Amino acid sequence: MEIVIVPDAVAGGSLIATAIADLLIAKPDALLGVATGSTPTPIYQALAARVADGSVDASRARICQLDEYVGLPAGHPESYRSVVLREVVEPLGLTEASFLGPDGNAPDIAAAAAEYDRALAEAGGVDLQLLGIGTDGHIGFNEPCSSLASRTRIKTLTRQTREDNARFFDSLDEVPHHVLTQGIGTILEARHLVLLATGEAKAEAVALAVEGPLSAMVPASALQLHPHATVVVDEAAASGLKLADYFRDTYAAKPVWQGL
Ligand code: PGA
Repeated sequence: MEIVIVPDAVAGGSLIATAIADLLIAKPDALLGVATGSTPTPIYQALAARVADGSVDASRARICQLDEYVGLPAGHPESYRSVVLREVVEPLGLTEASFLGPDGNAPDIAAAAAEYDRALAEAGGVDLQLLGIGTDGHIGFNEPCSSLASRTRIKTLTRQTREDNARFFDSLDEVPHHVLTQGIGTILEARHLVLLATGEAKAEAVALAVEGPLSAMVPASALQLHPHATVVVDEAAASGLKLADYFRDTYAAKPVWQGL
């Protein structure tokens, strides 16, 4: 696992946008797994700016979703399908035709989950999966005690996650209890995992995920199992890392040609 400590969220967004741009040069129709929440916004803004100024060609990129609420009406502005279309697909100049996501309104949720895993495999697998981290250590919506081998399935949100996400809704009561999420096993199949964490509120979860034991109690610790996982953190989110100086030295000495 590589840990990159950046000065702030904008620098993290720019660094990850560069990794995505490099991937799109090597593979113009790359399948990009995107995360929602507040953290990845600087990545999408940096990438959209480069598409707008012509320095990045994302016209053949494909976008897929990490997780989704169950039961929000189709077209609800806070469904993750709506969020990804609004914040990623449209700003990159893409259409819904280049987008893959699970159906959180399917009458048979278990079948929709299995169908999504199949669709990802049929699309050739995810080339680069962006991840955030919950204050409880979740990735996607894999809450603590999720199986490290899990596939896409229904999960129940913790109270902490529902409270964290209540800011997107009019009240806590409106935050769904259930979600569909790529499983940890599904996430680990992506070729490159890139987790961005910013702010002091993420410091404890980051330290446990990066330097703690591999544990289903901290789903993000599953990144320790992946051969190509990059964790980008700002100074505040890095503040709990014992090895911060080592990570800084390592990245400072890294040959530029290696990229992320
Ligand atoms: P946030 O969400 O970026 O809004 O903090 C991260 C997550 O829950 O994965």
